[in-house]
Amino acid sequence: MTDSEHAIASPTFVFTGYTGTIMTLKIGSMTLKSRVYVPPMAGVTDIVFRDIVRQVDKECMLSTEMVSSRALMNRPECRIMDLSDDERPIGIQIFGHEPDVMASAARMAEAKGADFVDINMGCPVPKITKGKDGCALMREPELAKEIVETVRASISIPLSVKFRLGWDDDSRNAVEFGEMLEGAGACAVTVHGRTRQQLYSGKADWSWIAKVKQALSIPVFGNGDVFEPEDAIKLLEVTGCDGVAVARGTLGNPWLIARITKYLETGKLDDAPEEVDKLMVAYSHCLGLINYKGARVGANESRRHMTHYTKGIVGSAPYRARLTQIANADDAAVILAELAEMVAGTDGKRRFLLHVEQANLQQGEHPRKWNGNSESSVETPVDGRALSPVAVP
Ligand SMILES: Cc1cc2nc3c(=O)[nH]c(=O)nc-3n(C[C@H](O)[C@H](O)[C@H](O)COP(=O)(O)O)c2cc1C
Repeated sequence: MTDSEHAIASPTFVFTGYTGTIMTLKIGSMTLKSRVYVPPMAGVTDIVFRDIVRQVDKECMLSTEMVSSRALMNRPECRIMDLSDDERPIGIQIFGHEPDVMASAARMAEAKGADFVDINMGCPVPKITKGKDGCALMREPELAKEIVETVRASISIPLSVKFRLGWDDDSRNAVEFGEMLEGAGACAVTVHGRTRQQLYSGKADWSWIAKVKQALSIPVFGNGDVFEPEDAIKLLEVTGCDGVAVARGTLGNPWLIARITKYLETGKLDDAPEEVDKLMVAYSHCLGLINYKGARVGANESRRHMTHYTKGIVGSAPYRARLTQIANADDAAVILAELAEMVAGTDGKRRFLLHVEQANLQQGEHPRKWNGNSESSVETPVDGRALSPVAVP
């Protein structure tokens, strides 16, 4: 065992049926080779972000950002549902509370080529819950049931549901809610171990996720507070879940997914990437967003991502402050190159600039299918920044 490889910390960890090879997991008719899931994050899990994740992990399950079923009725061409072939398995998440509208949206997701449809019953944001959408459906189990039954009957791909422990501590109904969803036809569920009232405060309560897992026969993905590979192992151990969903931990850190996958498969823990490698991917992410969403929106959105990529690099604060002002990819390249030099000398800067050259060339020679789209066609259903604290612990 090298310094960079450590045995799984807990000797009590037993991954049911674990054989040392990649185990498959079935969700309805869909067979997964990975137990790691990057769940929806509005304002984050767009096609550019997912492409970055897919470059480091070939098998994890992915999802789009949530999309409003009602909005889709008026704007069926909504680009949140854009998928690319190399990102499978991928789900489209829809939200809403009108069973027929949700069924129509789910059919549209299926027609778009989604491998599964996910229904959002966990979003805590008042803008969403003040109707009966998102986590508000946990207070309307009859309506939630009707939605699942209606959607289930309308599509032939698997259906999953994502929810929380309940509305508040006095009404933790995740177990009964999960049982109801399974009975109504859900093929899998993802459970975030917090209540709606908690939003993102406190700690995710994995013991409650365990209760849901115990009660259900369909696959359960446990979710909440996984920021290191060891956290993922622990969550699986404590909850007995079939898979783990990792959201905020991937911000500026898509490598986390690959490191979890490897840890699960081999018990070996890869080192975190070098700082210069992080800066290279930060640049690619920025370039991809600008190409996909246009200079204004792309540069604006990439500022947040670059904050995440550079967080934790000693002495990076002044550079980060400048990154929050960038107007285009060239601005980002200049600042990131200086940062690369600060962390790894002239060689670091040279490696970074070589990457910039290659990334720019690649975009020119092999533009992704999203190249050339005007930013005016981009629509996000809710403001991701208003949704939740994008906290890096
Ligand atoms: C910026 C942001 C946007 C999110 N958007 C969605 C969403 O669109 N749909 C959803 O079901 N959950 C959404 N979530 C919740 C996450 O999928 C996840 O349940 C939550 O962050 C807890 O997992 P974590 O501790 O791994 O981050 C969002 C979370 C964040 C931080």
